[in-house]
Amino acid sequence: MKNINILAIETSCDETSAAVVSDGWRVLSNIIFSQIDIHRVYGGVVPEIASRSHIEKVDDVVAEALAAANVTLDDIAAVAVTFGPGLVGALLVGLNFGKALAYARGLPLVGVHHIAGHIASCYLENDGIALPFVALVVSGGHTQLVYVRDYTDFEILGQSLDDAAGEAFDKVARSLGLPYPGGIEIDRLARQGDPFAIDFPRAWLGADSYDFSFSGLKSAVLNHLNTAKMSGRDISHADIAASFQAAVVDVLTKKAISACSHVGATRLAVVGGVACNTALRASLTDLCGNNGITLHIPPPVFCTDNAAMIAAAAYHKYQIGDFSDQHLNAVPNLPLSV
Ligand code: KG4
Ligand code: ZN
Repeated sequence: MKNINILAIETSCDETSAAVVSDGWRVLSNIIFSQIDIHRVYGGVVPEIASRSHIEKVDDVVAEALAAANVTLDDIAAVAVTFGPGLVGALLVGLNFGKALAYARGLPLVGVHHIAGHIASCYLENDGIALPFVALVVSGGHTQLVYVRDYTDFEILGQSLDDAAGEAFDKVARSLGLPYPGGIEIDRLARQGDPFAIDFPRAWLGADSYDFSFSGLKSAVLNHLNTAKMSGRDISHADIAASFQAAVVDVLTKKAISACSHVGATRLAVVGGVACNTALRASLTDLCGNNGITLHIPPPVFCTDNAAMIAAAAYHKYQIGDFSDQHLNAVPNLPLSV
């Protein structure tokens, strides 16, 4: 049987990425141009600059993805694009490129939800997760617990009511004078600090709630810093980083485990950029082990934004004939159920 090769394009935020994935799991190429160096001077992503950079890069990145996969457009079965959620100007670049390519080549177009893409990062390469499972989605823009019943059947069990986990990491890092993106910087600094030094608040939001809130924690860190500054007290930034990270990890892990027992899932996946966090990985490895839950965390390159995960999600829509047409538009706040 002929392999189904999907060419995917992802431009929802600050990575221009294109990938070719075969049969929904075998990654033939996954080219990622990160704009981090461009945005770092501003301390965060500047949407207008992100869109312009995507325009400059998208055709090269797509050509590189085809070349690295050693295929031509004749070997491609469908073109997949992220159409939301994300920055509208950024999304439109990849979306219009994908639409034009699909039209010109007479190929089916598959619109993919960015979070469905993050969830599908679990199917890539040899060690794909079996269904059903609970996905803890922790990225710069989203924090969600999702029950994945089937490849295209999602139930949101809970989500952040304010800041996303990654956003909280980035904002706290900024207040500590660390460069953007701050998640990895906090992760590094925390290794030299004491996670028990400061008892930062944890928002549990009720016994059976799978929702999250990180804005109170973020304010508590800022207050701690300001109070110390005003009183001229010497404080350890490493202790603050470690204690903040411990509070985030505590809430994420406990809610993820209790969501698994709520739906009777024996598999937990962690996806999105914050899944790279070493403290989160270590804590979940322990807790899952103690609770008989199999933990699945994709390698870091598939956790942060990439087009291979978009191709993996598109494959399952392709299999059920769920195609998009040329009217597909970018939807900045697209809900996951679509
Ligand atoms: O999934 P992603 O690449 O982009 C979005 O879809 O948002 O996630 C980016 C987020 C950023 O907030 C970044 O600081 C965070 O993931 N991140 C981390 C780590 N590596 C990346 N947060 C904590 N610890 C890390 N090691
Ligand atoms: Zn993402």
